Amino acid sequence: MAEQRAAPLRLGTVAPNFQSETTKGPIDLHEYIGDKWLVFFSHPEDYTPVCTTELGEMARLEPDFAKRGVKLLGLSANTVESHEGWASDIKEISGNTLNFPIVADKERKVAYLYDMLDYQDTTNVDEKGIAFTIRSVFIIDPRKTIRTILSYPASTGRNANEILRIVDSLQTGDKHKVTTPVNWVPGDDVIVHPSVKNEQAKELFPDFRIVKPYLRFTPLPKDKITPA
Ligand code: BEZ
Repeated sequence: MAEQRAAPLRLGTVAPNFQSETTKGPIDLHEYIGDKWLVFFSHPEDYTPVCTTELGEMARLEPDFAKRGVKLLGLSANTVESHEGWASDIKEISGNTLNFPIVADKERKVAYLYDMLDYQDTTNVDEKGIAFTIRSVFIIDPRKTIRTILSYPASTGRNANEILRIVDSLQTGDKHKVTTPVNWVPGDDVIVHPSVKNEQAKELFPDFRIVKPYLRFTPLPKDKITPA
């Protein structure tokens, strides 16, 4: 019988807490997040080729995430012992050490809790026993609220810089009552949040410009750009 899962996960809901073994010892998710942001990303199995490249890149970029107050947490549907062997391959291949924990989710309970599986219960695996697909990314804020959910097919390596870019957009938006337009990167003009009236916008963003009443752009002063 399928395990029970609470309400479906949506942007804006609280990330379900869980306790698990990881490569850095047992963790409680909410305690691990503490007052930081979290990027929680998952893999269906150890020693899978695309995932190997992704983990190496996340390890390389960890200092960039840390600079933004973001912790990393990986998950793969295998044991701590297996993760440790894989981590040493990743270090050999990419030159990068995995300094963040990888959840040991051999039974796919956390993957199921987070709705990371393609199918409806944890037994749906392919002929080689690999669960489809457990290739998700959750960005969770310090209030433990889910702010982004991404799902990737097995064929397509994730873009780690895009994950950083989303963090930059969320953090900039939270701080300055702005949103970010298509293909935005830090330093580009941002959009004044629709809830900000023109009068207030004049005070907050002296150089804002109105393209349409519903589309108002502004540069952000250098000291307001995330990451600082
Ligand atoms: C991978 O290459 O990472 C991969 C292969 C099969 C299933 C899922 C991921």
